[in-house]
Amino acid sequence: MPTTVSAIPTTATTADAIEDRASYRALTRPRGARHIEVLDQRALPHAVAKVKIATADVAALAIRNMLVRGAPLIGAVGAYGLALALDRDASDAGLARAHATLDATRPTAVNLRWALDRVRNAVASLPVDARADAAWIEADAIRAEDVAINHAIGVHGLGLLRDLASRRPGPVNVMTHCNAGALATCGFGTATAPLFLAHAEGLPLHVWVSETRPRMQGANLTTWELAQRGIPHTLFVDSASGMLMRRGEVSLVMVGADRVARNGDVCNKIGTYDKALAARDNGVPFHVALPSPTIDWSLDSGSAIPIESRPPSEVLNMTGRSDDGEITTVTLAPAGTRAVNFAFDVTPAELVGSYLTERGYARDAKALADLFPERAHAHA
Ligand code: MRU
Repeated sequence: MPTTVSAIPTTATTADAIEDRASYRALTRPRGARHIEVLDQRALPHAVAKVKIATADVAALAIRNMLVRGAPLIGAVGAYGLALALDRDASDAGLARAHATLDATRPTAVNLRWALDRVRNAVASLPVDARADAAWIEADAIRAEDVAINHAIGVHGLGLLRDLASRRPGPVNVMTHCNAGALATCGFGTATAPLFLAHAEGLPLHVWVSETRPRMQGANLTTWELAQRGIPHTLFVDSASGMLMRRGEVSLVMVGADRVARNGDVCNKIGTYDKALAARDNGVPFHVALPSPTIDWSLDSGSAIPIESRPPSEVLNMTGRSDDGEITTVTLAPAGTRAVNFAFDVTPAELVGSYLTERGYARDAKALADLFPERAHAHA
């Protein structure tokens, strides 16, 4: 495994090339516009639909209703939402109201609160009439930094994949869960960034994609992204993770994160914990792609992370495209069946093999704090 490094690579030629070749972007801001455009992720993979977001209320709805999703992306959309709000009302009360509205949309990914606080802190001490412009600049900076973080995670993770490819014949088999790809970020993803780079340089690669019940981000989104880039992949039902690992078909697991506590506990999409358990039992390395804004230095452990509870209807029903092209929802269980729908779970730090950040690898919470001393110590 590569050693930890402290510098963020500032150039990533291969990554830039991949970025340019991608035919989709989860979030764009037309040059000079006072609005943003996002892909409606509820429509994928059956339709590619762009939605214009021109008010803070629409930004909040887009996050709440999961037109946009994925921790870094909802942070960026939240930041732009605050800028949009300040275009209309930049008073102290307007700022506080918009911050609270956007913050209440989804509770688990810390990137949202982080981005909202960052924009608020950048503008709060300015005269009221200067706040909106400053908020747009800050939101642009958050978006640009996310792209750079994606690149850096990709470059560091590529070393790991090269190493594995050189040790064994045949493809490196990477298992992933949910969607931690370009659709979850402003760039080309966290867990997927090393995969996109590895594929671009010709490393033999195969990705096991976990369907990710109940919203199917793996089946709908990750498969779509991998297909866009021509990366070999196979979809499997969530409950087959352990079996695939036991059969020796998985070289490593690479997942994203929604919030990581300072002790290294990882909150990510429901089902991540099961994969970490199976990985431990079968000696499969378990890696977490972790952009630093996803670390919540204020939380001592993962048990304090708020877990989003979503509507039972997402478990009881399923939506897809029928043979005649209609988008259809069907019911799975008898009427009256009770269902729970926890959107996330927490994987204890001891099951995590490494955290792959924009500053390199960290094997444990202590190493993670050493990679980001300026932030870790601010909360110590
Ligand atoms: O409910 P979602 O689709 O927003 O959940 C997304 C995930 O759990 C991702 O793995 C996580 O946000 C990391 S995205 C880089």
